[in-house]
Amino acid sequence: MAIISPSVLSCDFGNIQRDVEMLDSSNAEWIHIDVMDGVFVPNISFGFPVLTAIRKHTSKVLDVHLMIANPDNYLVDFCAAGANILTVHYEACTHLHRTVSEIKRLGMKAGVALNPHTPISVLEEIISELDLVLVMSVNPGFGGQQFIVSATDKVAKIKELIKLKNSSALIEVDGGINLETGKLLIQAGADALVAGSFVFGSNSPLATIKSLSEL
Ligand code: DX5
Ligand code: ZN
Repeated sequence: MAIISPSVLSCDFGNIQRDVEMLDSSNAEWIHIDVMDGVFVPNISFGFPVLTAIRKHTSKVLDVHLMIANPDNYLVDFCAAGANILTVHYEACTHLHRTVSEIKRLGMKAGVALNPHTPISVLEEIISELDLVLVMSVNPGFGGQQFIVSATDKVAKIKELIKLKNSSALIEVDGGINLETGKLLIQAGADALVAGSFVFGSNSPLATIKSLSEL
């Protein structure tokens, strides 16, 4: 059974309470929150007030993906807004060990995301400290993009690194996920799948989440 983390980036923002309550009643274990700042990525999504509002309508794990520059400035605020898992980008952190330590000290699970071009070797010295590795299977910034096939091999390689280093990190994959790409990723060793447009663009988001969770 896969952990599914539907991305609210693809929900109807005019009906965010309705959509979050739908996710709360679904088979999804996590809810994925994409925070974009228009600096680290060429798009702006939403920030603390929206996250706080989402938190009021669900008891699911809030899986917060920060696509922002200088995430260190906001770790306390994301914790206060209700994040359970806080994932920062490797490419946005000069002192990644410090950032990861602080996320954990605040009581959240710590994740590190890798852009499609970033090799897994950059995680060798930190993987044993991580709760989550987020493999980007699109270039971050937008929902609805095409899956980058090389992400599947990357997942298998990270799985090997996790075993080698006795890490308990989970592997999550984000971008372009549907039943076909999701199946390949689970076979390669992924534990959690993010899905935005595939869930919210389907006739029955609840049934789509269930199908993904059974992969
Ligand atoms: C992309 C975001 C994703 C996005 C995925 O920058 O990190 O989480 O919502 O959307 P889909 O599933 O539509 O590719
Ligand atoms: Zn994301």
